[in-house]
Amino acid sequence: MKKQLITVLALAGIAAGATLAFAAEGSHGGGILKSKHDMNMYVGSHGGKLDKDQRVCAYCHTPHHSVGIGATAMVDIDKDGAADLDGLGNETFYEVYYPLWSRALNPTATIDGYVSQTFNPTGKFYDPLAGPSRLCMTCHDGTIAADSYYGETNGSANAGDDQLVMWSMGNFGIGKGDSLSNDHPVGFVYKDMADDDTKYEIKDQSSTFIGTQKTIDSALTDVAGVGKVMTCASCHDVHNGNAVQNKPLAAGESGRGYFLLAAQKDSAICLSCHDK
Ligand code: HEC
Ligand code: HEC
Ligand code: HEC
Ligand code: HEC
Repeated sequence: MKKQLITVLALAGIAAGATLAFAAEGSHGGGILKSKHDMNMYVGSHGGKLDKDQRVCAYCHTPHHSVGIGATAMVDIDKDGAADLDGLGNETFYEVYYPLWSRALNPTATIDGYVSQTFNPTGKFYDPLAGPSRLCMTCHDGTIAADSYYGETNGSANAGDDQLVMWSMGNFGIGKGDSLSNDHPVGFVYKDMADDDTKYEIKDQSSTFIGTQKTIDSALTDVAGVGKVMTCASCHDVHNGNAVQNKPLAAGESGRGYFLLAAQKDSAICLSCHDK
């Protein structure tokens, strides 16, 4: 009897340990160290080159010699494809955001964005790479390996390819092949779409993500001269910080956290902005 109890306790201990280990290594909040964005974990398990000093931030940021600052990108507002540098207002410029970035990045690259009959921002600011989204692409479109950073250019652990393996099908990196056209739209001024599209029941940006005090507004990126733009970081917290709400549903549950600002359960993340 006593032996049985010890076994039960031991199993409970293993279960608790497994939960802790998972929380530490996932994307459910709890910080960047040992998260899915701790490249020492990823690169190590994908045959890449580990950082010699085992730094975590360095794969994305550097204290010195960053890739630069102050570049501007151009957006063709009327989508006629013609450069209109004559000041008639068919285009707009904005300052590209790359906080002490340590990864190769093309500040003026463009990418196709999502459009449809009901989402059509022609005549308004729309650049899917505006704000931090351009930074996500320095790994997630699969063209630059995670361990190519800090001047190192021949890394081999590739985030886009990882998703390709994960889904067992081709071209599944997000933004792969220069296209975000089958992804939830990003890169537009939230208010432009929320105000114009009351019929689509978009919540005001002063409302909060379900289950939190965090406003939608705080998850938008203020692009100077443009407005508050919805980006990849409006749904995901890249640093896996306290803002991440998509917790495991049960002890030992293996679902992914996805760094999301609200839960996947009952689609709280979607209902945070869509009043459906
Ligand atoms: C996987 C890439 C990645 C790693 C690793 C990373 N960051 Fe970041 N960091 C980003 C991105 C992307 C942004 C822009 C995020 C945004 O606008 O929401 C950012 C923004 C920042 C900012 C400016 C805005 C803010 O959110 O405070 C600071 C400061 C920062 N990171 C510090 C750090 C530190 C310190 C570390 C290491 C402990 C780190 N980051 C690790 C990608 C990363
Ligand atoms: C409207 C919210 C939202 C936006 C904006 C968003 N995502 Fe996601 N993302 C999600 C959700 C929710 C998941 C979880 C997967 C699912 O439910 O299918 C996810 C999953 C992911 C994954 C996991 C792998 C995969 O392919 O599913 C990656 C990587 C990712 N997002 C990156 C990005 C990048 C990069 C951007 C910007 C271009 C972005 N996300 C913009 C909501 C969003
Ligand atoms: C330094 C390269 C790098 C950058 C920059 C980067 N990521 Fe990632 N990200 C990765 C890798 C690699 C993985 C896969 C980790 C794994 O599967 O173990 C990942 C995984 C994810 C996931 C899935 C987490 C899960 O639960 O499986 C999401 C969501 C995500 N990233 C979003 C983003 C967003 C949004 C940005 C920009 C704000 C970004 N990432 C910037 C490398 C990066
Ligand atoms: C941070 C706020 C936010 C979150 C979170 C969010 N959305 Fe959206 N979504 C928007 C905005 C703003 C639009 C643009 C509305 C418009 O003008 O059509 C949009 C557009 C859409 C569209 C319309 C596309 C079209 O062709 O008209 C769909 C469908 C959609 N979202 C589904 C989702 C789903 C599913 C989720 C959860 C995975 C989600 N959204 C999460 C803000 C959000």
